[in-house]
Amino acid sequence: MTRRLAPSVLNADLAQLADQVRLVEEAADWIHLDLMDGHFVPNLTFGPPVVAALRPYTDHYLDCHLMVTDPEALLPALAEAGAGGVTMHVEALDDPVRALRAAAGLGMAPGLALRPGTPLQAVLPHLDAVDLVLPMTVEPGFGGQAFDDGVLPKIAAARDAIRRAGRPVALQVDGGVNAATLPRCLDAGADVFVVGTAIFGADDPAAAAKAFRALLDREEG
Ligand code: DX5
Ligand code: ZN
Repeated sequence: MTRRLAPSVLNADLAQLADQVRLVEEAADWIHLDLMDGHFVPNLTFGPPVVAALRPYTDHYLDCHLMVTDPEALLPALAEAGAGGVTMHVEALDDPVRALRAAAGLGMAPGLALRPGTPLQAVLPHLDAVDLVLPMTVEPGFGGQAFDDGVLPKIAAARDAIRRAGRPVALQVDGGVNAATLPRCLDAGADVFVVGTAIFGADDPAAAAKAFRALLDREEG
């Protein structure tokens, strides 16, 4: 199973976004971008224009996490902006089948995210149509929160369900992932690791990203 590191720039210096991405580029597989609308979550970050602005500065896959009330409405602009994947919250979708199909039809990898309190059952009917499942390990909205251990059994159950589905669905973790919690996520079966403040809150983000890369490569053996 390929293990991927997806640094989240949410708590990076957003005034220097391209430079911040460059710092972690060598160690990263994906760049994780948190789009928030101030409605689905209390925080408000950025939208498709910032994704488009960043696009020329990196070749990495842009992994967009949509914490917005109407994710479907953003899909055409995100495709135009060069997003690689779009992970939508299942709680925000009236019709997940239609939304996933729309994302795929626009050439983006569709994903479904769940708040910590949302049961895994909400995404199980859609495993045939997603490329990624994200059981959040904090309440979405802010970086720097403590990892919620209570989500680990849900991650393990998601891994089992993905195995049974027999499709290459990525299992992402996001929220409070650091050097102490990452191995627990790995044990539970996660394979894509979003890391925000443990990288960009470090004195040397490039070195911190490399340390996570080494941790993933070491655990892989
Ligand atoms: C929170 C975002 C995360 C955030 C993670 O809602 O989805 O991607 O950047 O930050 P840390 O790693 O600090 O929990
Ligand atoms: Zn995120």
